[in-house]
Amino acid sequence: MPEKKLRLAVLASGRGTNLQAIIEAIEKGRLDATLAVVISNKAEAPALERARKHGAPAVFLDPKATPDREAYDAAILEYLKKCEVELVALAGYMKIVTRVLIDAYPNRIMNIHPSLLPAFPGLKAQQQALDWGVKVSGCTVHFVTEGVDAGPIIRQATVPVLEGDTAEPLEARILTEEHRIYPEAIQLFAEGRLTVQGRRVHIR
Ligand code: GRF
Repeated sequence: MPEKKLRLAVLASGRGTNLQAIIEAIEKGRLDATLAVVISNKAEAPALERARKHGAPAVFLDPKATPDREAYDAAILEYLKKCEVELVALAGYMKIVTRVLIDAYPNRIMNIHPSLLPAFPGLKAQQQALDWGVKVSGCTVHFVTEGVDAGPIIRQATVPVLEGDTAEPLEARILTEEHRIYPEAIQLFAEGRLTVQGRRVHIR
């Protein structure tokens, strides 16, 4: 009997290359998950098209249809429940997640961020890293808590900052690592190997 697969939701606002990496990991058997639903706050997000191509439900939820962020998250939550979602992965999701989702999915929402957190949270992390003059940057997969990019860290990967770098090549170098570690982190969760103790995530 095949083991039950992890029911995964992805929330994405844009191009969705991390979603694509997750889809490919599923299709190649490296990630034991079913893409239960992809939800976007942007009607035109290429991420939705990527989900449809994979045969996964793709849902646009209009933020303007709800009065505030909590009500919007409640609408998302309805879909997550309907689709029996066990883990939520944010992948280029440009909205701040509220308590409504965090309380419903404690330590069951992941995010990927293009810096070595806690350095350079927030927007334009690659440019922030360049402006600071760091010699090494990278990406971080973490659980989502109320603070922006502040939750317990699951996995990180480093990339060098090269002489003469601009944000674009640095972003590309980091993105390659994002596409590697995000599916890996989700697979660790799928295998039940992650436990959270305070700020620390232990990997069995
Ligand atoms: C990635 O750099 C991710 O780290 C950040 O937003 C970007 C999303 O890219 N959170 P994509 O939509 O997955 O291509």
